[in-house]
Amino acid sequence: MKSEKKPHMMELPRMYDPRGSLTFVEENRHVAFDIKRVYWIYDVPGGESRGAHSHFETELLIVAAGGSFEVKTFDGKEWESFMLTKPFEGLYVPPGYWHTLGNFSSGSVALVMASTLYTEDDYERDFEKYLEWARKEGEA
Ligand code: TYD
Repeated sequence: MKSEKKPHMMELPRMYDPRGSLTFVEENRHVAFDIKRVYWIYDVPGGESRGAHSHFETELLIVAAGGSFEVKTFDGKEWESFMLTKPFEGLYVPPGYWHTLGNFSSGSVALVMASTLYTEDDYERDFEKYLEWARKEGEA
């Protein structure tokens, strides 16, 4: 079911230090979900994009751990664009939002924290089917 929550940027803790900066995320404190899974996307060739799916249940927090990239989200009606450029910012993506990651800078790393273990059943990867699902959710 589509969430009442919306995609939004969040500022994460940032520990300044002359030795270098440190940022951390704790479940149910900096994100409002249990972190069940962490994955990261790297070595993305120029011009490639990732994602292009929606989740039925999974909540995500996406961080540009290195470099920068753009995340586009879509709720079935409107697209929104978020530039992730800082390792102390996260983009929260609720379930029910189609999302793509693109415009990766060279050497960038997309770190993703997810509220579920991986299961393909939680993915909608067909955009036409997603539109149909979002239309029905909008009517419900
Ligand atoms: P995919 O979801 O297509 O990547 P993205 O949406 O980020 O572009 O995943 C690529 C492959 O990796 C696919 O075969 C599923 C697998 N995978 C896992 O096994 N576990 C995971 O946690 C994730 C995110 C993907």
